[in-house]
Amino acid sequence: MLPFYIFTLLYFAHVQQPTAAQITAPWEVNALRAIRGSLSDPNGFLNSWNRGDPCVANWTRVICYNVTAKDDGYFHVQELQLLRLGLSGTLAPELGQLSRMKIMDFMWNKITGSIPKEVGNITSLELLLVNGNQLTGSLPEEIGFLPNLNRIQIDQNNISGPIPKSFANLNKTKHFHMNNNSLSGQIPPELSRLPSLVHMLLDNNNLSGYLPPELAQLPKLLIIQLDNNNFSGSSIPPSYGNITTLLKLSLRNCSLEGPAPDVSGIPQLGYLDVSWNQLTGPIPSGQLASNITTIDFSHNRLNGSIPASFSGLPNLQRLSLDNNNLDGSVPSDVWRNIDFSGNRSLILDFQNNALTNLSNPLTPPANVTIMLSGNPVCQSQNQLNIAQYCQSAPEVNPGGGSIDNSTLCAPCATDLPLESVLKAPNPCSCGVPLYVDYRLKSPGFWDFVPYEAQFQEYLSSGLFLNSYQLEVTTFMWEEGPRLKMTLKLFPNNTILFNSGEVQRLRYMFTGWLIADSDIFGPYELINFDPGWYEKGSTKKSLSTGAIVGIVIAAFAAAAVLSSLITLILLRRRSRQFSKKRTAKRIPMKIDGVKDFTFEELSNCTNDFSLSRLAPLPDTEGSAPGHVSTVVKGTPGYLDPEYFLTHKLTDKSDVYSLGVVFLELLTGMQPISHGKNLVREVVAANQSGMILSVVDLRMGALPGECVERFAALGLRCCRDETDARPSMAEVVRELEAIWQMTPDTDGVPSESVAMDPTHTPASSSTATGSRMGHDQYDMSTSDVSGSNLLSGVVPSINPR
Ligand SMILES: *[C@@H]1O[C@H](CO)[C@@H](O)[C@H](O)[C@H]1NC(C)=O
Ligand SMILES: *[C@@H]1O[C@H](CO)[C@@H](O)[C@H](O)[C@H]1NC(C)=O
Ligand SMILES: *[C@@H]1O[C@H](CO)[C@@H](O)[C@H](O)[C@H]1NC(C)=O
Ligand SMILES: *[C@@H]1O[C@H](CO)[C@@H](O)[C@H](O)[C@H]1NC(C)=O
Ligand SMILES: *[C@@H]1O[C@H](CO)[C@@H](O)[C@H](O)[C@H]1NC(C)=O
Ligand SMILES: *[C@@H]1O[C@H](CO)[C@@H](O)[C@H](O)[C@H]1NC(C)=O
Ligand SMILES: *[C@@H]1O[C@H](CO)[C@@H](O)[C@H](O)[C@H]1NC(C)=O
Ligand SMILES: *[C@@H]1O[C@H](CO)[C@@H](O)[C@H](O)[C@H]1NC(C)=O
Ligand SMILES: *[C@@H]1O[C@H](CO)[C@@H](O)[C@H](O)[C@H]1NC(C)=O
Ligand SMILES: *[C@@H]1O[C@H](CO)[C@@H](O)[C@H](O)[C@H]1NC(C)=O
Ligand SMILES: *[C@@H]1O[C@H](CO)[C@@H](O)[C@H](O)[C@H]1NC(C)=O
Ligand SMILES: *[C@@H]1O[C@H](CO)[C@@H](O)[C@H](O)[C@H]1NC(C)=O
Repeated sequence: MLPFYIFTLLYFAHVQQPTAAQITAPWEVNALRAIRGSLSDPNGFLNSWNRGDPCVANWTRVICYNVTAKDDGYFHVQELQLLRLGLSGTLAPELGQLSRMKIMDFMWNKITGSIPKEVGNITSLELLLVNGNQLTGSLPEEIGFLPNLNRIQIDQNNISGPIPKSFANLNKTKHFHMNNNSLSGQIPPELSRLPSLVHMLLDNNNLSGYLPPELAQLPKLLIIQLDNNNFSGSSIPPSYGNITTLLKLSLRNCSLEGPAPDVSGIPQLGYLDVSWNQLTGPIPSGQLASNITTIDFSHNRLNGSIPASFSGLPNLQRLSLDNNNLDGSVPSDVWRNIDFSGNRSLILDFQNNALTNLSNPLTPPANVTIMLSGNPVCQSQNQLNIAQYCQSAPEVNPGGGSIDNSTLCAPCATDLPLESVLKAPNPCSCGVPLYVDYRLKSPGFWDFVPYEAQFQEYLSSGLFLNSYQLEVTTFMWEEGPRLKMTLKLFPNNTILFNSGEVQRLRYMFTGWLIADSDIFGPYELINFDPGWYEKGSTKKSLSTGAIVGIVIAAFAAAAVLSSLITLILLRRRSRQFSKKRTAKRIPMKIDGVKDFTFEELSNCTNDFSLSRLAPLPDTEGSAPGHVSTVVKGTPGYLDPEYFLTHKLTDKSDVYSLGVVFLELLTGMQPISHGKNLVREVVAANQSGMILSVVDLRMGALPGECVERFAALGLRCCRDETDARPSMAEVVRELEAIWQMTPDTDGVPSESVAMDPTHTPASSSTATGSRMGHDQYDMSTSDVSGSNLLSGVVPSINPR
């Protein structure tokens, strides 16, 4: 099969001869090998880390700078994105050699051992992400000298020992996420020097000592979350009431003593939790910020009366004062400024106090829950209508939720994992979603329901998507409280995301490029699951590389019919190879299809890619005048991804390709039809008779497939260049169309229309002819793209 052969030869000629200069820095290669060596990778995700060069051959989840460094001429590792790969083992000290790395992501694996101090040598490091492992040991003080560190996420490990004082040097660090470890000792007062810190999440550790009043000097602090530590003997520093930037103060179960904090001077405070301590004295009566949603003073030893300042807070969702010694009367108008439309509700928990009377009769709106059991007021017989509030109430938790999509829309077609886009402007349209497991680490509210629409707006716009493209499929509260969600992201008005968009969205999440929101707080990425885009598309369809190859081949040779047959063959073969890799050789000579000389090829290809190719003198076995080529261009340019993004974007090239498609569709002789053919097909299409011009040989394919193929050809042939799809879109659509072709597993490939005189057996003996070059052992061109891209060079076996 000439065209595909050309491509294959081109591509692998390139891969086999990389230019010596364009390689990854050798010490970084060694470091990656060492990192791989000290990890255990039961699922083999890192198998590609044995092959070729990390940056040139595209090792899995190793992201390199896209250009070589000016100072040393090497490629360098920019990111390790090893999120959720089931890795165990330890982190190799050689990590420190990746000194230009910006993102080190080992989140949600089962890695043990400690964080190597050599990480302190990665001076360009911006995101240090190792949360959700089983790391132990203490925090190396070397990390404190990383000048570019923006975010340190070590949460959900079992890291012990103190927070090093050296962390006070992290001038650029905004996020300390260290919750759920075994950190001990005092919070170093030196941390008050951190000029950029916004989120300090140290909850669920074993921190002790006094709470440093100095933290009030942090100029940008938004969240202090220290729940479940043990600061016994310490009180809440009054200076915390002076942190005017603060949005959330959470000090639950910290063994704190002394008076309740006066936070009335914090203008935007939205969330205050000082429950489960031993606070004494009265609750300060200053007016709290109107932003406040959650006030929790429960389980302390507070006395005095309930301040009138709790009444009239317009955003309040929960006021928990239970299990104290509060006396006086039950406030009767806490809800007076709350607008209960839009699913709002309010919980007032005053249980187990010493409240003795009502100031006024209680006549709350339906969405207010008042809990009074365990107060003397419940015993007094003369209080009307109070009994309903005096039943001992179970703990009230905010609800979760999920979208029931079952009845809203008719099911989508099942040939792709399509799902209904429930909020699409075109209702019930279908798309293949990306799935994201996502968790709000420190939300600024108690009940999510009233904020759901706002969240949708926040996250979709943060991702530069239309709001309808994001669906919060389920949400549920977890300990913390944290809010876990599953999200679906849908493509905009199309069935599929293109690969660039998938990558962009992944990067928005894994690079923490979505701006934080005051009300929703920091997020955790638990999983980014491309679903079909990663697994399905490579298993079930041709790889990008193969398709690009085919498109190029089709384009270069315009040997139209044979291309389609090749595609179908490849597809069938690919399905078979996944089962058995001992494929037979396939005869590729196709009856009635013209062979092309190099001149014909270059004439008909608009100088497309062949301009970079040089015809060689005939190589062994090829007939005179036929094409054998090697790559003359710069290394890298035949990289399939590069083609997709750079080379194949010229929409005027797309026109010629569209003509080829239409020729294929109609079964006309290749080349030379140009606009007449296009006009003919357009006319047939407009009169709804598209099938009337379709070649009978296409009849084996499903009608929808043929129609989409026709539509694609026509779009490519639009007069206005801008109306034509990009080459990347063409490739995607081709891929989608091949997906729709019937699964022909088990059908002998010989049944495809091709030269009936060549059986596999007889063709395999052919040698020395041009025919021989048209054939190669398909079993080596596995379709799982990763092989094409990872530097394993399938051998071409001309016969
Ligand atoms: C390389 O990456 C930088 C950003 O890191 C980007 O601005 C630039 O366009 C990229 N260059 C190429 C050739 O992709
Ligand atoms: C960090 O690099 C310096 C040299 O750049 C070297 O002297 C030092 O030993 C390295 N430290 C670690 C912990 O690898
Ligand atoms: C975490 O480490 C501490 C000691 O550092 C140990 O007491 C504790 O059992 C460990 N917890 C887990 C869950 O492994
Ligand atoms: C951090 O900033 C302070 C004040 O700007 C400066 O004195 C200090 O040297 C900086 N520290 C580092 C490690 O850059
Ligand atoms: C953090 O630790 C607390 C207390 O052990 C536990 O209840 C909570 O589930 C943990 N949270 C996470 C996210 O691991
Ligand atoms: C917590 O810290 C205290 C000292 O403050 C220590 O005695 C205790 O063993 C630590 N507990 C754990 C589980 O690390
Ligand atoms: C809070 O700030 C004011 C003015 O900035 C200052 O007078 C007061 O002493 C501070 N209070 C505390 C407890 O630090
Ligand atoms: C609020 O009250 C209305 C009317 O009783 C009810 O339909 C709605 O479910 C309530 N909402 C919440 C969140 O409790
Ligand atoms: C509804 O959602 C489920 C789970 O996310 C999915 O499997 C199903 O295909 C969806 N149904 C429709 C009609 O989109
Ligand atoms: C979605 O597609 C429409 C056209 O179909 C376009 O106008 C709009 O800008 C796109 N929106 C986004 C966020 O890409
Ligand atoms: C706080 O309230 C102001 C208006 O008073 C509003 O602009 C801001 O968004 C609110 N912040 C939060 C976190 O709700
Ligand atoms: C690298 O390979 C992966 C799959 O192995 C693929 O998803 C990705 O697009 C490739 N990247 C480049 C730049 O070739």
